Amino acid sequence: MGREDLHLPDNRSWENAWDGIYKKVGIPEDLQHPYGCFNYLMNEMLRRKTRKVLDVAMGPGRHSIEMAKNGLEVYGFDLSNTALELAQNKFVELGLTIDTRVANMFGEYPYEDNYFDAVIAIQAIYHGYPDDMLKSFKEIHRVLKPGGFFGFTLSIDCERPMVDFHGTKKTPRARNDKNVEKIGEFTYIFHTGRESGVPHSYPDEATLLSMLNGKFNDVKGFTDYDRMYRMISASAIK
Ligand SMILES: C[S@@+](CC[C@H](N)C(=O)[O-])C[C@H]1O[C@@H](n2cnc3c(N)ncnc32)[C@H](O)[C@@H]1O
Repeated sequence: MGREDLHLPDNRSWENAWDGIYKKVGIPEDLQHPYGCFNYLMNEMLRRKTRKVLDVAMGPGRHSIEMAKNGLEVYGFDLSNTALELAQNKFVELGLTIDTRVANMFGEYPYEDNYFDAVIAIQAIYHGYPDDMLKSFKEIHRVLKPGGFFGFTLSIDCERPMVDFHGTKKTPRARNDKNVEKIGEFTYIFHTGRESGVPHSYPDEATLLSMLNGKFNDVKGFTDYDRMYRMISASAIK
């Protein structure tokens, strides 16, 4: 099945689906506290004496808050204006100053070349097609300084069995769930739930490495504690 069979609007209105989620529920439960493995990225950024960091698709800002509390100069953007309003309310409440902008992670980023020491993208860059992901890698590479740190998460391949925190094996989502449809290589669409209609891309390791090739080296990855996401880190080559 190709993209044309899915009746996805040409104007990519699915792209801002999250704005509707934030309008409906405010900050969702699962975005209230930092992602489980975020400490790994935070420690790595501190070890590297990171000063300026960009939070790509920052949402309501749970990681921006952590980074600002750790003394970093934080910039972030998101496509959802509502997410940024929720984030700014939190920053004011906590007395933190964070530069927020509305921008598309698959478009041009509103920052100069070589501006950041680090870029993070948590539960972010897989919300689109593989060629979208490639565009975001190009922009992240452009705004990072030579040797700059890039940390991000990818969801686990929908077709691989997952093992949760308690060691229980879960069935692969795509193969047994009629609500998840494979629409292209590494690309899936959910027909129910809060992200219904949003394409998700989950490249395998070889494809991911080829997407990063020439822009990043020192690529390290591990599967996180609940086997839902892969955490990847890399350094920009210039
Ligand atoms: C699962 S939330 C994660 C938010 C945040 N990174 C976090 O970990 O709390 C995904 C975020 O990606 C944003 N997003 C989706 N597509 C986007 C795009 N094309 N450009 C910028 N942000 C986008 C959504 O608005 C949403 O805030």
